[in-house]
Amino acid sequence: MRQRTGQSFHQFKREANVATFPNDFSRHVNFENRPYFWPAGNFHVVTDLGEAMEALKNPLLSADRSSFFISRMPNMDLSLIEDFFSVVSKMMVMSDGEDHSRKRQAAQLGFEDHVLDKFRSKVAISVDSLLESALSKKDVNFCDDVAKRLPSTVLADLFCIPEQDRVEFYNNSIAMTAFFGGGTGYENEDGIKVNKAASTLKTYFSELIAKRKQMPGEDYISSLLKAQDRFNLSDGEIISQAIMMLVAGQVTTTDQMCNNMFLLASSLEDQIALKNNPSLISNALEEYNRFDPAVTFIFRVARQATQIGDQHIKAGDTVFISNHCVNRTGLDHGEQINIHRKGIQHMAYGYGAHFCIGAKLARMEMNLLFKTLITKYPHLKVKMASRDHYSLSFSGFDQLILEKVQ
Ligand code: HEM
Repeated sequence: MRQRTGQSFHQFKREANVATFPNDFSRHVNFENRPYFWPAGNFHVVTDLGEAMEALKNPLLSADRSSFFISRMPNMDLSLIEDFFSVVSKMMVMSDGEDHSRKRQAAQLGFEDHVLDKFRSKVAISVDSLLESALSKKDVNFCDDVAKRLPSTVLADLFCIPEQDRVEFYNNSIAMTAFFGGGTGYENEDGIKVNKAASTLKTYFSELIAKRKQMPGEDYISSLLKAQDRFNLSDGEIISQAIMMLVAGQVTTTDQMCNNMFLLASSLEDQIALKNNPSLISNALEEYNRFDPAVTFIFRVARQATQIGDQHIKAGDTVFISNHCVNRTGLDHGEQINIHRKGIQHMAYGYGAHFCIGAKLARMEMNLLFKTLITKYPHLKVKMASRDHYSLSFSGFDQLILEKVQ
């Protein structure tokens, strides 16, 4: 078994340079483009695109990652997080095989093209009003005023959550995500906090289910309820899929928007090219996602012994796939950004059975946002920025202040 030592990934992320982080991190994680075991984290690391695809198609590598989470909680009384585990264990993102595909088919009904097409004008209105307000100020607080607000507004709209419940709804989803991302260590107080968030959301959604059963609407819960009998979904499973959408759709989108904005605001050349040719925007966003993915690692746990390339994986071992590394595999000048690049391939939205179900929605949000920004507003440059690496799995910004270039 190939092993390697060195500075912990967490430590490296925390100390990284804001601007050069994506390439620095990729170089730090990569080890001769081969899979290896990282004793400090107690997991294997995959850095090659082909091997990552092989791993994500391997049925012996399970998406049920509870054993890994539990291994990270030696100091925590697990009875404190019973509600959290009861919600998470029913999520499709933690399930495999037929159980996963049953839940996924039901969940997908809310993301079909005709549903998203109807939703587009609502997203466009939110984009316009958030940008107008953020850009009316001298300095633009992109992270707080745009990137955190747009995904939470879109998700609350998706579930038709009333205005007065939205702040609490947002705070609980953030508490769940921070816990989910694979921290370095968890204490009882973290458990109490996340369990409260899980049980509050569980109660909220069970009341919402009761209301929607009485009076169905055009929202996401109503679409799951319509599919309830066909896919044999219990109310508990519907609640878990709903909470999963919040957890998976909020921080990821906020982080990716900030990562993309930072890259765009750092390049006047890209801004000019996009202003001259807005049809290039979606390609540019894919390139930015490739270069600085918000999900830094996708991970799985081996249900039985298996192999990735020549690396032996024992039953129970955890495998981390580095998105920064795989997104640079086999590319000409993969360490450079090229918004004109053709046939961009990346794993920012995952790969295989668990490929991001919200990718279309996230792409729609980002395309509308960046298109409006590029076509209606002046050029921007970074005034102040700091990265946020609160967990091993996610990577974004906690501060991104921009100034207008006249
Ligand atoms: C830019 C924003 C986003 C990024 C970068 C992103 C990234 C990812 C990645 C990498 C995965 C694969 C995880 C794995 O294989 O373990 C994934 C899965 C998933 N994402 Fe996203 N995501 C984004 C937005 C969203 C949105 C907006 C939603 C929903 C509203 C969403 C819902 C999901 C769900 C439910 C899964 C699990 C799918 C399954 O298990 O079959 N994501 N996402």
